[in-house]
Amino acid sequence: MSQLYDSIGRGYRQQRVPDPRIATRIELALADMNDVLNVGAGAGSYEPSGRTRAAVEPSGTMIRQRPAEAAPAVCGVASRLPFPNNAFDASMAVLTVHHWSDQLLGLREMTRVASRRAVILTWDPEFTDFWLLDYFPGILDVDRDIFPTMNDYGNWLNVERIENVPVPYDCLDGFLGAYWRRPHAYLQEEVRSGMSSFAKLRDVGPGLARLRHDLENGQWEHRFGHLRNQESLELGYRLVVVDARSAN
Ligand SMILES: C[S@@+](CC[C@H](N)C(=O)[O-])C[C@H]1O[C@@H](n2cnc3c(N)ncnc32)[C@H](O)[C@@H]1O
Repeated sequence: MSQLYDSIGRGYRQQRVPDPRIATRIELALADMNDVLNVGAGAGSYEPSGRTRAAVEPSGTMIRQRPAEAAPAVCGVASRLPFPNNAFDASMAVLTVHHWSDQLLGLREMTRVASRRAVILTWDPEFTDFWLLDYFPGILDVDRDIFPTMNDYGNWLNVERIENVPVPYDCLDGFLGAYWRRPHAYLQEEVRSGMSSFAKLRDVGPGLARLRHDLENGQWEHRFGHLRNQESLELGYRLVVVDARSAN
């Protein structure tokens, strides 16, 4: 999987600028934590500054994009975190668990190295109400196979709470749902290049052609134009807050 991000991760910091509203949600979940480990850390988005002590990331391409002042990054994977039990107050993982080959082991590792809390931003694969999926139904097939359900989290971990994280209409972080109110953006190769779901589709051509056609003939506006009145949209993104105290 590091190979995927060694290729699709090249322009990551341009396409995936941390969004301040999402950052606030993550900061709040980690508010009283002093030592934080970021797992699947990528280029360092959403790491609470001054409190993130280390990061783990398998892709060299991603590690090289970390700002000079970011926490030191170890090249490694979630299922084998190179730290002793309770080495940090908290661990965090942002939009990465779906890439892990052994998700249960990786999540258990996150609670092993954290003495108090683990915070995970993910997407609920039972959420299907997004217009983009009408054009690219293959995304749902791929993502449903790789994202753990909210029940999985409940079965695997001591989940304290799960919060909805609505996506702002002008979201800076170009993940799959970011452009829900800017449909023309999905026509741009550069925008899609920041979204791993598109990288896994065999053929985006037919979906792109239909979207372009519907945008040109007003059909998209007719079906989904009402969304332009909304400032943010619930698209299935979830913040899973886990009590790690009893993990060791
Ligand atoms: C969508 S990026 C998210 C990066 C960062 N957390 C962020 O929010 O910008 C997914 C990251 O997960 C990393 N990754 C893939 N497999 C992994 C694994 N087994 N363990 C840890 N990280 C992994 C990828 O290399 C990539 O950097």
